[in-house]
Amino acid sequence: MSDSYLSRLYYASTATEKYSPLEMGNILEACRRNNPVLNITGMLFMGNNFFFQCLEGPRENVNILYKKIRQDERHSNVQLLEFKEVGSRYFEDWAMKYVSSAAAIGKILKETGVQNFNPYLIDNYTLNLMIAALRDQPLPESSSKVDRVKQKKSALFRVFKPVY
Ligand SMILES: Cc1cc2nc3c(=O)[nH]c(=O)nc-3n(C[C@H](O)[C@H](O)[C@H](O)COP(=O)(O)O)c2cc1C
Repeated sequence: MSDSYLSRLYYASTATEKYSPLEMGNILEACRRNNPVLNITGMLFMGNNFFFQCLEGPRENVNILYKKIRQDERHSNVQLLEFKEVGSRYFEDWAMKYVSSAAAIGKILKETGVQNFNPYLIDNYTLNLMIAALRDQPLPESSSKVDRVKQKKSALFRVFKPVY
């Protein structure tokens, strides 16, 4: 069941000792498995041992997924940064766009005078700049199949179908 209110949620969290870089493959695999079913798209950024994730989709489904993600022991101190109704998606082609390159946001950090990436401390203005940079960030050719979870919408059923 899902309502029709398209919503976008941002949260910040910190990787725990249960997280290792190898785990990212498992997390992205779960994204590929679950997010299309929930009609959820988004972006996951990891930097400086922090996660910064955007989930967008029907409000109820975003709630369901966020509740599940919060309970994941691979991260802690999960803090909601923003959750609001929106008119359109930022990451509509992605079940979960994974970006790990700090270079993607390095310029913004420099402009805002921040030394190291810390999603707990970013204000709304910086958050929007970051999202724009992460949205435009091309993925390297070498990124694995799991990273590239690009999806296309079916015009008829609005069901997401994997391209790869
Ligand atoms: C930072 C982080 C982000 C995650 N994002 C997602 C996500 O977008 N979708 C998802 O299904 N699981 C995500 N997970 C994994 C979930 O917490 C959970 O392990 C997974 O959904 C279980 O999938 P299953 O119910 O199919 O076994 C994330 C985990 C972490 C630590």
